[in-house]
Amino acid sequence: MAKAKILYVCSTCGASQTKWAGQCADCGEWNTLIEGIAQSTPDQRSFTPGIKTDTRIQTIGDVELEAEERTTTGIGELDRVLGGGLVHGSVTLIGGDPGIGKSTLLTQTMAALSKDMPCLYVTGEESLQQVSLRAKRLGLGDNGLNLLSATCVENIITLAAKQQPRVMVIDSIQTIYTEALSSAPGAVGQVRESAAQLVRFAKQTGTALFLVGHVTKEGTLAGPRVLEHMVDTVLYFEGDSGERYRMIRAVKNRFGAVNELGVFAMTDAGLKPVSNPSAIFLSRHDQPVPGSIITVTREGSRPLLIEVQALVDESHSSNPRRICLGLDANRLTMLLAVMHRHGGIALYDQDVFVNVVGGVRVTETGADTALLLSALSSFRNRPLPNDLITFGEIGLAGEVRPVPNGQERLREAAKHGFKQAIIPKANMPKKNEMVEGLQVTPVQRVSELVDHTFG
Ligand code: TYD
Ligand code: MG
Repeated sequence: MAKAKILYVCSTCGASQTKWAGQCADCGEWNTLIEGIAQSTPDQRSFTPGIKTDTRIQTIGDVELEAEERTTTGIGELDRVLGGGLVHGSVTLIGGDPGIGKSTLLTQTMAALSKDMPCLYVTGEESLQQVSLRAKRLGLGDNGLNLLSATCVENIITLAAKQQPRVMVIDSIQTIYTEALSSAPGAVGQVRESAAQLVRFAKQTGTALFLVGHVTKEGTLAGPRVLEHMVDTVLYFEGDSGERYRMIRAVKNRFGAVNELGVFAMTDAGLKPVSNPSAIFLSRHDQPVPGSIITVTREGSRPLLIEVQALVDESHSSNPRRICLGLDANRLTMLLAVMHRHGGIALYDQDVFVNVVGGVRVTETGADTALLLSALSSFRNRPLPNDLITFGEIGLAGEVRPVPNGQERLREAAKHGFKQAIIPKANMPKKNEMVEGLQVTPVQRVSELVDHTFG
């Protein structure tokens, strides 16, 4: 085989050069040239995953639909983030910190799946002994799962084409290299080119493919963002590897809801799905304590009860601290300013710490009212009732704005025994849709929210 011609392509402007340089000669950007393979014929293009193309133009109604074939993975919470099971021919990227449980989850999934279909687990990071030892420790026994220890993508594809697995795992994409490029495995060009070849293989053969990706210190997937464009689904492990609970969030999903959250507990027998996560994030205090309130957020398609805690303490610095864990720190600063202007309560000489219990990360604005009330409750040292929940977004004009799926959130609260709710007026259920056993107070302004709660 003739050696493929190498080109260096600028990741900013797309210009290509035959020699590597620190600066792109076309756009002048520094450090943007990435090694790639020169493309001779169109069907060898590296970044077109093998989607069947057609030369006819059709109307949307005429397009022949193949039934979307889904397999349940045997792990309920994983099925949930995938959008209801594994789609054949789909490519899923799983990212997360080291030691968070990526290999554990995929070993469990593949072991369950290989009872019904041929599966292949390609490990480039651990030896076959390590993988098999882990499977033994997980109590998975001999289930016929095929293992391969390889890092050359051409080898992997040749062997996989022979064995024809229905599901394949690459653990991890950063250890895989292609012979066509001379840079080291893990380099941007290598990761991109190997992934492109694997994606093309998956699309052409209908194999469901899982790619494991490492996360850099900054928290993004190592390697180019282009990996996220090439795959169908991107899942991120959240949470701390020291904590008991691990969460998987769907950041992108062509086959389901985005932001969907799957919750797992790490036990000595591997990852166990937690099917009722609301219960675990609530630390029920015997006595009401200042600075704590429960809110109902909605991550993906399911409501989740979480506890927001705040501590407001006199600051001895000219620049008081604003620390926020699990919520957006900018939002905290903004809400404190709104509380000052529209509620008349100033915290400029106080340190404010806010935390979401259990290591959950809240990505929506529905927790605004909870954030504000918890800070105020701590500041005034006035506990809020044990059976109170709140949700709602707060705007800069001091208005309390509605959030999606209010009714569903109220039902979730009632299900867990809460008796009172403070919610945006626009989320107020109609008379005949009232949730039983829940006394709902609608508010429109921040001042109303403060007066009602502490008045
Ligand atoms: P691993 O799945 O190898 O993480 P990753 O592939 O994301 O780097 O390891 C997960 C961690 O979980 C590891 O530190 C050991 C721990 N663990 C358990 O607590 N229980 C278990 O049953 C297993 C297999 C691992
Ligand atoms: Mg691993």
